[in-house]
Amino acid sequence: MNRLCELLNIQYPIIQGGMGNVSNAPLTAAISEAGAMGTIGAGTMDLEDIERLMIETKERTSQPFAVNVPLSVASNVKEIFQLIIKHGIKVVSLSAGNPAPFIPKLKEHGITVMCVVASVYHAKKAEEAGCDILVAEGYEAAGLNSPYETTTMTLIPQVADAVSIPLVAAGGIADGRGLAAALALGASGVQMGTRFIATKEAPFHVTYKNKLIEANDTSTVIIGRTVGTIRRVYKTPYAEKVLELEKEGISSEKYLTLTSEEQHILGAMKGDLEKGFINSGQIAGAIQDIPTVSMLLESMMDEARNVLPIVNQYLK
Ligand SMILES: Cc1cc2nc3c(=O)[nH]c(=O)nc-3n(C[C@H](O)[C@H](O)[C@H](O)COP(=O)(O)O)c2cc1C
Repeated sequence: MNRLCELLNIQYPIIQGGMGNVSNAPLTAAISEAGAMGTIGAGTMDLEDIERLMIETKERTSQPFAVNVPLSVASNVKEIFQLIIKHGIKVVSLSAGNPAPFIPKLKEHGITVMCVVASVYHAKKAEEAGCDILVAEGYEAAGLNSPYETTTMTLIPQVADAVSIPLVAAGGIADGRGLAAALALGASGVQMGTRFIATKEAPFHVTYKNKLIEANDTSTVIIGRTVGTIRRVYKTPYAEKVLELEKEGISSEKYLTLTSEEQHILGAMKGDLEKGFINSGQIAGAIQDIPTVSMLLESMMDEARNVLPIVNQYLK
């Protein structure tokens, strides 16, 4: 039995990455119901909205699901943890900040803690701090990204060698080949963001889903390098405008206004690609359909199982 699945009490070693402000309860519940780990993203939402998501997800599934708290952007982090404890959420994913101060309290309540990291250094620190599961995210990933620019292919084996707790690979995985590759590199499972957007249950605007279908290998771009808040987004007119402004020299404040959650919601939920942006990982180019979550997960598992004997043939 896969020790990640055992720890999380799930059937498939696949986790939905947190998608703060833009995901919803039906998607999280569908992923958990289908045998993987759904995740609510707390993002920058207010407490009432986060609690509503927890309640609705629990109404829709009796399977476990996680809550992602992006520590440096979420407001009311301590109050979010109180809600997590109040609603008996079993798994928490901590990203975008130092998880160490928060881990003991969560563990006291029997909560399994996953920490999202992008370097061996931070992976070791999180393990030392008592984290149960590491999610190592490479530079291919959608959304807020690490300035280290380390890719999943290079990050996973190095983190796997450095830690002993279960490791999850994130960034650049969208099918069974990616899952099998992550396992070969030393991970016990994968976390996906971009692939889950192009599913029937996902609440995102049809324009966003269609953009992922249209995408090729060079359809995404990194914005924010000049100000040090790095984000991988789809190359839309809006993203190109932000890049132009960066070339001219843009303040960090102005950049953060242009990439605020309001602009994210305009792009992702309203499909306005002139006034808002959409996050996308580099793997978007490999996405060709919009299946149900359950069909996606079944086909990923089948493909991963089938690809491993093929790999073996090449090694004979
Ligand atoms: C729309 C969107 C929103 C995201 N928001 C968050 C977030 O709030 N917190 C977080 O830790 N990661 C966030 N991510 C990153 C995902 O959780 C996940 O780790 C990443 O998408 C994995 O890479 P992939 O897109 O190549 O699958 C977001 C990704 C997307 C696509």
